[in-house]
Amino acid sequence: MIIINTRCINSQQYSLENLLNLCKLTDNIRNIASTSKGLKYLKTILSDKRAILYFKQASTRTFLSFQNACYILGISTSEIRDTSTSSEIKGETELDAIKTFSQYVDLIIMRHPSSEFIYEILDNLPNDMRIINAGSGTNEHPTQALLDFYTIWKYGLENKKVAFVGDLLRGRTVRSLSLLLNKVNETKLYFVSPDKFQIKDDILKQLNVEYEVTEDFEKVLPDMDVVYMVRLQDEYGGTNEIIDTTKYSINNSNINKMKDDAIILHPLPRRNEISVEIDKDKRAKYWQQCENGMWIRVALIMDMFGVEII
Ligand code: NCD
Repeated sequence: MIIINTRCINSQQYSLENLLNLCKLTDNIRNIASTSKGLKYLKTILSDKRAILYFKQASTRTFLSFQNACYILGISTSEIRDTSTSSEIKGETELDAIKTFSQYVDLIIMRHPSSEFIYEILDNLPNDMRIINAGSGTNEHPTQALLDFYTIWKYGLENKKVAFVGDLLRGRTVRSLSLLLNKVNETKLYFVSPDKFQIKDDILKQLNVEYEVTEDFEKVLPDMDVVYMVRLQDEYGGTNEIIDTTKYSINNSNINKMKDDAIILHPLPRRNEISVEIDKDKRAKYWQQCENGMWIRVALIMDMFGVEII
């Protein structure tokens, strides 16, 4: 097994080989976890380790899937989600808070509203401290990208046309995933959104694969192999405008324009960009995506600690 890194910070750090190894490791782990004996074995793997989940932004899936990934590996966890209960309320800096809990744990899993803070803590903690970026402002969400990549990999990775639809301006999962898919041969990416919500140039400039920036969802929909929807990220402000979900959504009136073997993804939470009635369609894979998230996080953590499965 390849030790990817003691840190999971951004998409750029992963090679295609790293990604494929991680996908295969995830499948191996799931296979082991399919029996009670296997699950008990997994629980011994990192039972001498402790992790903290430091989440300064709302989270359901990322928080719970990381917490459960830790449980699967026997890692004990503690958490700070509400900083009104920590000494930050007394004026302690975030950096001091992190330096404090780094004395107690082997792994820090952090979600933070700032795009830069994750990089600041890297310089301030010892190299053997495992650190995972569980979402950094509007910039990156590498572990969501890993689970999205894994989900696409399960349905075949190469030669895919992938559309990202919705608030691409502030949707960090789209930014991170497009940089991972950029490593895959013959991928073509479509960024589909009203102009005001389009993906920023800093991502487009890094792409080697073909891509198209368009406002016209109905036009591209029939050609897509993967349609990745995201919600309006209005908690970040910057504009009061909204996206017209009569134009940028999947529902009973346009689902039949999609290829039969296409897949629909969404990092969740959703609003009305995917109607609930679509959940029953065989192309809807976003609930599987959730489950995949927990398992690839198990694989990621194992890999970061350099442990092998026997
Ligand atoms: C995403 C996030 O936090 O960026 N959610 C998640 O982690 N599954 C997407 C979102 O909040 O829209």
